[in-house]
Amino acid sequence: MCGIVGYTGNHQAQPFLLDGLASLEYRGYDSAGIEVLSPDGSLHGVKCSGRVEILAQRCATANLVGTSGIAHTRWATHGAPSDRNAHPHTDCSGRIAIVHNGIIENFRQLRSQLIAAGHEFKSDTDSEVIAHLIEDSWNGPAKGNLLEAVRIAVSRCEGSWALAVLCADMPGQIVCARRRSPLVIATTANGCYVSSDITALAGKAKEVIQLDDGQLAILSPQGTCSVFDEDGNSVNSPTTMTVDWDASAATLGGYPDFMAKEIAEQPEAIRRLLQNRLGKHGIELDELTLTKEEMAAIDKVYVVACGTSYHVGLIARDFIENWAKVPVVVEQASELNYKESVLVTPNTLCVIITQSGETADTLTAARRMRGLGCKIFAITNVLGSTAARESDGTLYIQAGPEVCVCSTKAYTAQMVGAAFLALRLAQARGTMTREEVEKKFHELETVPNLIDQVLQRSWQDKEASRAFRRAHSSLFLGRGVNSTAAAEGALKLKEISYLHAEAYAAGEMKHGPIALLEPGFPVVAIVPQGHVHDKTISNIQECIARGATVIGVATDGDEDVATICSNVLWVPPVTDEFLVPLVVAVHLQMLARYVAIDRGYDVDKPRNLAKSVTVE
Ligand code: M6R
Repeated sequence: MCGIVGYTGNHQAQPFLLDGLASLEYRGYDSAGIEVLSPDGSLHGVKCSGRVEILAQRCATANLVGTSGIAHTRWATHGAPSDRNAHPHTDCSGRIAIVHNGIIENFRQLRSQLIAAGHEFKSDTDSEVIAHLIEDSWNGPAKGNLLEAVRIAVSRCEGSWALAVLCADMPGQIVCARRRSPLVIATTANGCYVSSDITALAGKAKEVIQLDDGQLAILSPQGTCSVFDEDGNSVNSPTTMTVDWDASAATLGGYPDFMAKEIAEQPEAIRRLLQNRLGKHGIELDELTLTKEEMAAIDKVYVVACGTSYHVGLIARDFIENWAKVPVVVEQASELNYKESVLVTPNTLCVIITQSGETADTLTAARRMRGLGCKIFAITNVLGSTAARESDGTLYIQAGPEVCVCSTKAYTAQMVGAAFLALRLAQARGTMTREEVEKKFHELETVPNLIDQVLQRSWQDKEASRAFRRAHSSLFLGRGVNSTAAAEGALKLKEISYLHAEAYAAGEMKHGPIALLEPGFPVVAIVPQGHVHDKTISNIQECIARGATVIGVATDGDEDVATICSNVLWVPPVTDEFLVPLVVAVHLQMLARYVAIDRGYDVDKPRNLAKSVTVE
């Protein structure tokens, strides 16, 4: 949820720390801070509420000199976004500084104990207890050994942490620890870099160390990293991963914002994902490490995800039930985690869908499903993410870094991944013939070109966005798979334009939401050609009769829609109705972006949100 970075080496620390924070800012951006060890042997820092940009302005006059340092960009959980709650946090002596991503669940109890022992707190955060716990063990049982002090401190904590610790009495050393929140380390000739994820390390090293749960590490300015387990034993072969994202993948490259860039990258991302997936034995999905017999025996699929990935899950249900003929339950992870009964069979497959691979709710749900005996298959974007590491098989969607907080290219690529899975299951279970599977695959291959065509029509979205100028609310309608497409369109609009949007199955509208309608009320109706086209037209008429301004999303040449709607977002004809959500998604993303820009908002960093939600 927050982003942390650290550096120790032979360069000044501040430039990397600020650049690293800027690239991690999508993880949280309500306050930021930096702490550097000065040549005079003391820690100096700057922290403030607001974005990294403001921190950078403050740093420009703060003269932070030093070759080792840590920094943080925050998404508030405990304690309001403010200067005093911004990280880094220090102990009472001001000689130990920490940055933390995660939640210390027992912090109240620890804080009371520490206060009773004489510690003075300067913030309202859960994280600050870690600095004081380290201080305690440093002065006590660890006897001046920083690794041991951190190890003892975290052994008293419950919850999750990715931690980087700087100590004025251990110049050049940074100690890190990880439990449930990710941490990656690059070792180079110029020193060591640590970060919450590889976005900040792109271009630093081709291979990075990924700390496993419970591990700690000591980073040295000479570029060495020693890894230890939670008992303090040395780990000889830590987990590593190859970084295949270059630094330019996470830059704007001429686009006005990351949302625009990532919307435009969708055809390429899907083309990449489709490569080498159709072989002489049909769909190739070796990532699904089940035998043919195990696939044939699957009698239930649970799909678990959050937010936009949950919408992919709803579409996955349509794919799997229609093609592989297996009943599918789709659950929002945060709901599944607290359900009393989760009814699995001995042959239930659990599919988790998560762009970041770090969403706490989804990971908790996957662990619960594993506990119930399910095999876990992950569809994710981030290489080496916790979801990938804890699953039996992982399909990487290879969409490249998604920096904008609202998901666009990962949404469509994940849908394509879900289609592979459904086709692979259909093939193994014999519910589709080889020819039928191939035909569907070739239909999927047409999607990038269809999206390319939609991208050329962004002027239609810009024009339609005017209908939202005076609106306080809006309605998104669709039937079948397109009721999910509507839900995703509404989520995009809410996230970045802060305009309320309700999504409803078009036929269900008359049972309640129709009461919202009044003259000028914007309604987006997804009404492509297909078996529910005429029914949806009737629902549009119901809206128009009440004075609503209806924006249709329709197939090229559809006169029925053109004559009744105020605006139409045209999509080229799609051969399979199930693939329509992939194509209309792009219009709805562009529409939301224009509405948000029109209202003057930053589309990449919407208020209150963070890209990767690593708390439950
Ligand atoms: O990384 P994940 O796919 O697990 O993230 C799930 C949601 O937090 C995410 O999709 C969120 O809803 C996005 N902001 C949607 O644009």
